[in-house]
Amino acid sequence: MASRSKNRRNIPLIVYCSRTDNTKRVAEAMAGSLAAELVSIEQFKDHQLRGRSLVGLGSGVYWLRLERRMVDLVARIPAGCRVFIFSTSGWRGRALVTFYQSELVKKLAQHHIEVIGRWHCPGHDRQPLFKWLQISRGRPNEDDIANARAFAASLKSA
Ligand SMILES: Cc1cc2nc3c(=O)[nH]c(=O)nc-3n(C[C@H](O)[C@H](O)[C@H](O)COP(=O)(O)O)c2cc1C
Repeated sequence: MASRSKNRRNIPLIVYCSRTDNTKRVAEAMAGSLAAELVSIEQFKDHQLRGRSLVGLGSGVYWLRLERRMVDLVARIPAGCRVFIFSTSGWRGRALVTFYQSELVKKLAQHHIEVIGRWHCPGHDRQPLFKWLQISRGRPNEDDIANARAFAASLKSA
């Protein structure tokens, strides 16, 4: 077990929550760029955090919040591990995005975990109540995915 944890040091882990696949597409692009292991929040097991030096946490926004389980897992991130976060949401706007990510950012700060990057893009809102509004339809698009790849690549030197 010890040697497996040691081997993980150089392999980033990305945990994502995605109900309608927008964040999943972004997470896959980032994982490709970083040669990271990728796991959904449903499949995630705490032991996968062991030995990591870099973890990415990504989620869609659901009723004004990121996925609760994503926020909760912060308490299990090993000391010294650095984190980047990413999200997608129907509604845009810098202040709104800051608000959506704030709960997770606060929890990371409480646990003295260094955040080395934050990323966000719009994601087509398929929630039945708002579907007719076509909020952020077509997003993430090719540019968003390219941007996600570039963001992840920039973390290699962070
Ligand atoms: C149940 C539900 C609730 C949502 N609530 C919000 C919200 O409060 N604010 C917002 O900007 N977008 C909201 N959205 C839109 C999603 O955040 C957006 O489509 C996001 O890209 C979904 O990511 P996913 O496809 O990875 O699940 C909601 C979508 C769903 C399905």
